[in-house]
Amino acid sequence: MKKYKICVIEGDGVGKEVIPETVRVLKNLGDFQFIKEYAGYECFKKYGDAIPSKTVETAKECDAILFGAVTTPKPHELEGKVYRSPILTLRRELDLYANIRPISNFRDIDFVIIRENTEGLYVGREYYNPCTEEAVAERVISKKGCYRVVKFAFEYALKHHRKKVTCVHKANVLRVTDGLFLKIFYQVSEEYKEYNIEVNDYLVDTTAMYIVKNPKIFDVIVTTNLFGDILSDEASGLIGGLGLAPSANIGDRYGLFEPVHGSAPDIAGKGIANPLATILSGAMMLYYLGMKKESKILRMAVKSVVEKGYTTPDLGGNLKTREVTDKVIEEVKKYSEVLL
Ligand code: NAD
Ligand code: IPM
Ligand code: MN
Repeated sequence: MKKYKICVIEGDGVGKEVIPETVRVLKNLGDFQFIKEYAGYECFKKYGDAIPSKTVETAKECDAILFGAVTTPKPHELEGKVYRSPILTLRRELDLYANIRPISNFRDIDFVIIRENTEGLYVGREYYNPCTEEAVAERVISKKGCYRVVKFAFEYALKHHRKKVTCVHKANVLRVTDGLFLKIFYQVSEEYKEYNIEVNDYLVDTTAMYIVKNPKIFDVIVTTNLFGDILSDEASGLIGGLGLAPSANIGDRYGLFEPVHGSAPDIAGKGIANPLATILSGAMMLYYLGMKKESKILRMAVKSVVEKGYTTPDLGGNLKTREVTDKVIEEVKKYSEVLL
């Protein structure tokens, strides 16, 4: 089997705890060359750069990128210095336009949010106009951006035998921008007519309510950048929180895998961060690399560990980050004997 090169970026806070544990798990599933690079607020304080160009270069040279989490200082903490989150730089630089965020508790809750990942309110076009005393943020929705992420969502539905694709938007107010997203959604859906995938659309506020009240109505959700960001954190609440929410950032050339959560400063350094969101992101990375059996084994191992109650405090258990990882590795070894 090919030896894959993985660019590993731990970042800040719990990123430094969950990434080494995920690397430890992955070593049991394949032959990888892990190349460590730096990014984040600590990196910024040390080198004056949140993401050195070497990090981006290495990311581009590797087969995949494993990313932990980074801290973003609040604007008033920066004394006028400019700071852009390195994860946003990577999504833009590597053109990772689709962010896949599965929400699953391995039982009754199982849907996927596909978030447009490069535009919308994330284009960084914000300014303050002292004459009008207005702060303005531009929300950019391009035809190309809509088309490729919607297409990605339908292809994803086909590949993973999903039955419904729901477009989530706010076209009742954002007539032009989300109007375009919605229009392209229905245009693209015509290209998939023969596959009998159900299609519908909801307003984002209504969606936020249904996610809490009746999440089973969702299968694949496709939405714009900020809505996807907010809804994925909300939806993780259905499955015990961010400790179980993985993600894949995919483009035509690169793939970056990271937990949905951030650097969790409230628990960082205590050894109790849940490593499973990152380990599951590792499983998504294995799938992307074509290691489908290994990916399945890893998912089954995580499922088993959760079912047996070997969890960190966020999921009601009393194990440490390292102990949960040890349990995952035990299960990986058991399943590998049978399946590999
Ligand atoms: P957060 O996601 O870091 O934490 C939210 C809550 O979830 C906290 O209570 C935290 O303890 C809990 N949590 C998160 N990860 C967990 C884990 N692995 N195990 C157990 N509990 C976990 O969000 P926040 O506190 O609002 O943000 C902290 C920092 O992280 C901010 O600077 C923010 O900008 C940044 N952030 C970065 C990313 C990223 O790097 N992709 C994502 C989100 C937030
Ligand atoms: C996420 C995070 C990022 C986002 C932040 C850290 C810039 O919240 O990956 O969900 O808003 O996309
Ligand atoms: Mn987020």
